[in-house]
Amino acid sequence: MYKDRINELISSAIDARRNSYSPYSHFCVGAALMTKSGKIYKGANAENSSYPIGICAERSAFAAALSDGEREFSAIAVVGGNERENNVLSDFCSPCGMCRQFIAEFCDGDFPIILAKSIDEYKIYTAAELLPFAFKLK
Ligand code: THU
Repeated sequence: MYKDRINELISSAIDARRNSYSPYSHFCVGAALMTKSGKIYKGANAENSSYPIGICAERSAFAAALSDGEREFSAIAVVGGNERENNVLSDFCSPCGMCRQFIAEFCDGDFPIILAKSIDEYKIYTAAELLPFAFKLK
């Protein structure tokens, strides 16, 4: 159950953030996605000189998990900010609209999205709270 592993999930996101490639915005984001079986996949944002083709940390984490064959997820933690290297960020980083829609493809409305400033300071929202009435073809 993700609730017993929130600290681990947040520290994985903090760890992933260290690998952010963000020379243009200097905004470093890390995400950690937990599968229903308990595995954790990390993602970091990766920018590009052709700005729009950069990828967010959340979708990066999903791509890693999906590429490994995973399809069922229990929670995601996200940390982001301009701070260079400390583990306590000044604000919460909320997933962009594109990432919210990406999450909605694979997760139910009650999927927990943990926004963290540090291991001890976090807020949990559901996917439906962040993207009500998500588009689905099914
Ligand atoms: N970014 C993410 O990685 N996740 C979000 O939810 C919001 C934005 C990245 C994209 C870009 O590399 C940088 O943050 C500034 O927008």
